[in-house]
Amino acid sequence: MSRRPLIAANWKMHKTCQEAKTFMAELLPKIADLKDVDVLICPPFTLISTVDMGRDGSKVLLGAQNMHHESKGAFTGEVAPMMLRDLKCEFVILGHSERRWVFGETDDMINKKMHAAFANGLIPVLCVGEKLEEREKNLTDQVILNQLEKNLAGISESFVSGIVIAYEPVWAIGTGKNATTKDAKDAIALIREYLHSKYGQEISEKVRILYGGSVKPENVKTYMDQDGIDGALVGGASLEADSFAKLTRF
Ligand code: PGA
Repeated sequence: MSRRPLIAANWKMHKTCQEAKTFMAELLPKIADLKDVDVLICPPFTLISTVDMGRDGSKVLLGAQNMHHESKGAFTGEVAPMMLRDLKCEFVILGHSERRWVFGETDDMINKKMHAAFANGLIPVLCVGEKLEEREKNLTDQVILNQLEKNLAGISESFVSGIVIAYEPVWAIGTGKNATTKDAKDAIALIREYLHSKYGQEISEKVRILYGGSVKPENVKTYMDQDGIDGALVGGASLEADSFAKLTRF
């Protein structure tokens, strides 16, 4: 089964409104002729509307980097799923390693957010991946499987087929130390095998699985050439329109 490649930008905590506007104005002409690749931008909350307006009728997809699982209430500083829908987000990154390891999000919290994404019609980009010490102790597979099991608990099969999963080894994020194509391919094959054993072949073949961690224009092709890798989730190299546009031409 062929899955549409997806190149996703995670801007993290970067850019002002003006910078986001300029980025979009520069990006659109550079990707206007793209046909067979989905392009997703996940800006900070403050720039979601700016990026939405900057899409200007193009096929660029829009996502957030996080959300709360509750639909409303006394949760100072949080953003609800419906608020993201209201701003035209189609996607939301959940379980990014910075959420897990800098802000203390647990697998249980991420699972609640997955359920909230389902309930609100948002497509999650669920991030999983091991830390360096876990890799060194040969715990990579165990860590990934444990995250999948807990983060996907109770999620309906029909929803799983439409989600995106990103394998992002924590040690490769923002460090310039990208995973070897073999490591990325093996981890992604493990994720797909897990989906197969849990939800069957049809669903497992529909889920797009991305690699993330120091992806750049110079190395994106080596990942995209691997069987089973359906795209990339990109931080640093997604911040400049020129570099991000190059990432879509793998
Ligand atoms: P990076 O970040 O491309 O800067 O390594 C990737 C990510 O955190 O999604």
